Amino acid sequence: MILLKSPQEIAKMEKANRIVAEILEEMKERVRPGVETRELDEVAEEGCRRHKVEPAFKGYRGYPASVCISVNEEVVHGIPGPRRLKDGDLVSLDFGVRYDGYYGDSALTLAVGQVAPAARKLMEATRESLDAAIAQVKVGARLSDISHAVQTVVEAQGFAVIREFVGHGIGRSLHEDPQIPNFGPPGRGPVLQAGMTLAIEPMTSSGSWRVRVLADGWTAVTQDGSLAAHFEHTVALTEKGVLVLSRL
Ligand code: CO
Repeated sequence: MILLKSPQEIAKMEKANRIVAEILEEMKERVRPGVETRELDEVAEEGCRRHKVEPAFKGYRGYPASVCISVNEEVVHGIPGPRRLKDGDLVSLDFGVRYDGYYGDSALTLAVGQVAPAARKLMEATRESLDAAIAQVKVGARLSDISHAVQTVVEAQGFAVIREFVGHGIGRSLHEDPQIPNFGPPGRGPVLQAGMTLAIEPMTSSGSWRVRVLADGWTAVTQDGSLAAHFEHTVALTEKGVLVLSRL
């Protein structure tokens, strides 16, 4: 069941997501060769204390950290630790909080120092696919119009869409209906209505779309070791159009 939110609820989600965006910005500023991924997790923890919000992922199904940090062939759910980022890495930061009962969720991929042109291209295609997806969020459109927009942009540039993970509704829970695949034909699924709040999150690879999960039980990597990227925004559909709540 898709839960529609009132303007008052959307205002709370706007605050939650602004905090997510601000803390992601602080983490971004700390990304450079030599930084340990756990230092970025500490930036997020400290940001949560300062903003008096709860990290959304810590403890979620036993997840042990506040941020997911996924490097190179890691697609999602990488666990921060003593690993040091190095020049040429592609790093994805995925972060969420709960504020006043409502969740915010956002992710981005960035280059550590100087990355290969192919890595930059993957990153840009993935960000572009999220923008194309958000442009489909209109009253009267269908859910799979979002999915189709992602797939079209990503595959046109020769990259692959990860199929095992999906975007999701979001609100009083981190994950609500509907699931939002990043591939599929347009014109299917629920009709988009004002009050829907969605976390749209294209996950892509420069090779195979197949993934496997490492022995830590969380880190999802591309099966063929190809590079991966991930961007996510929480958006709200209102009578006046779409609001990208997690964009500063
Ligand atoms: Co999400």
